[in-house]
Amino acid sequence: MNEPLQALRGMEDILPPVSATWQHVENTLRGLLLDYGYQEIRVPVVERTELFKRSIGEVTDIVEKEMYTFDDRNGVSVTLRPEATAGIVRACMEHGLLRNQRQKFFSTGPMFRYEKPQKGRYRQFHQFDVEALGFAGPDIDAELLILLARLWRLLGISHVSLQINTLGTAETRQRYRAELSSFFRESFDLLDEDSRRRLDRNPLRILDSKNPDLAELIARAPQMTEYLDDASAAHFAGLRTLLDDAGVAHTVNPRLVRGLDYYGRTVFEWVTDRLGSQGAVCAGGRYDGLVSHLGGEATPAIGFAIGLERLVELYALAGQPAPTRAPDVYIVAAGEGTSRLAFRIAESLRNGVPPMRVEVHCGGGGFKSQMKRADRSGAQVAVILGEDEVAAGAAVLKPLRAGTEQQTVTVASLADAIRPYLAGLHTGPVIETVR
Ligand code: HAM
Repeated sequence: MNEPLQALRGMEDILPPVSATWQHVENTLRGLLLDYGYQEIRVPVVERTELFKRSIGEVTDIVEKEMYTFDDRNGVSVTLRPEATAGIVRACMEHGLLRNQRQKFFSTGPMFRYEKPQKGRYRQFHQFDVEALGFAGPDIDAELLILLARLWRLLGISHVSLQINTLGTAETRQRYRAELSSFFRESFDLLDEDSRRRLDRNPLRILDSKNPDLAELIARAPQMTEYLDDASAAHFAGLRTLLDDAGVAHTVNPRLVRGLDYYGRTVFEWVTDRLGSQGAVCAGGRYDGLVSHLGGEATPAIGFAIGLERLVELYALAGQPAPTRAPDVYIVAAGEGTSRLAFRIAESLRNGVPPMRVEVHCGGGGFKSQMKRADRSGAQVAVILGEDEVAAGAAVLKPLRAGTEQQTVTVASLADAIRPYLAGLHTGPVIETVR
C-alpha cells in the first residue's frame, strides 16, 4: 500500500475553525484599506528570479539562502515570490501606472522563503501588503502608520509597539557604510562568519545581527543619525510630528536597518513580545530608489507588509473569538421526495427580502441525527420535512434557541412564520467587510 503523503515542512494547512479567524482578520484589513482609498492589486506568485535579485539585493539572506528558485520547462530561471513589493513595482512599470500618477495599492497572498521553520516562521507564509507609489512623504509615511494603529484597535490588539528609523539617502548611506566598514574592520576578530561576509558588501546588515556576542560591539558602532543629510532629517522630523499629532506612540531605533536592500529614509517595524522570537508583526519602509533601479523613472514610494500568521496568532492571544456565521435556518428532510421540497424551500428563502442564510441537510440519516446537526449548526430554527409534510404542502417549524413550541405551517407562509425568530439578527449572506 502507498504511504499517505504529508505537507512539506514549513507549509501549513489552515483549517476551520482557525480559517474563520483568518477571514475576519483579512476582511477587517480589506475594509480598512478600502476606507483609506487603497485599491487591490493582484500579481503573480511566480516571477523571473532576476526581479527579486535586483530588487531585494544580492547580498541579503532572502536572495542568498531563502528563495525557491528553479528553471521552468523553457530553461527560464523563476522564483516563488519571497515578498510582494518587487512584483507590484514590476506590474506598475509594465502597465504604465506610474506615469504622472500616484497609486495606493494593497495585495494579499502566499509568500515563500526557505527558512528554518519554527512557530511564527514558515516556508509558505502570507502577507497583507500595502504600497503607496508616487508620494514623496512624509505625509503618506504617517498615513500608513496611523492606519496600522487603527488596525490594532479594530482587532483589539494592544501588545504591539512601533519602532522607526531613517536610513537617509543613497549618498548618506554610502558614507555611513564606509564608516561602519572601517569600524567593524578594526574589530574583525570579534566578528562571526556572517558579519565578516557582510563587511565589504553590506555592513549595515551587521547592525541587524541577532548574535548576542556582537551586541556590545554593535552598541558602540557609529550611528546613522550622525551622517544624516538635512533633507532626510527634515523628512524624519516631519513624520514624527504627524505621528505625535495623531497620538501614535513610537520609539526611534537607530539599529533598525531591515533585511532588504531597497530601503532608504523611513523604515519601521511593529513588534510584539507575545510571539516568542518571531516578534515582527508588520514591517516596511520607503524605497524611493527602487523604480529607477529597475529601469523606470524615479518614483518615491513606501509600503509595508503584515505577516498574517503572526497577526492571526496575536488576535487569538488577545482572547477574541472569531465572529461565527451560523445559518438562520437548517432544513431537515427525511423520507421519499423530501429533498426536492427541501431545495425548493431553501432557494425561495434565500431569494426572500431580506434573504435568509439556509443550510439544507445533505447526506441522509434519520430525523434524530439530522436534528442534532441542526442544533449544532447554530441555526435559529429548523424546518422539518417528512413524507406527510410533502403530501400536505406543509412544513414543521421548530425554534432551536427560544423555548417556543413547534408549529406546522404551509410552505407558502413559511418565510413569514420564520421571520419573527430572526428579528434583530443579521441575516442574509455577508459578502464583504466585517467591521
Ligand atoms: P519583511 O520584513 O521581509 O518585509 O516581511 C514583512 C513581514 O512578513 C514580517 O514582519 C513578518 O511578520 C512576515 N514574515 C516574513 N517572513 C516570514 C516567515 N518566514 N514566516 C512568517 N511570517 C513571515 C517585506 O517583505 C517587505 N516586502 C515589506 C514592504 C512592503 N516594504 C515595503 N513595502
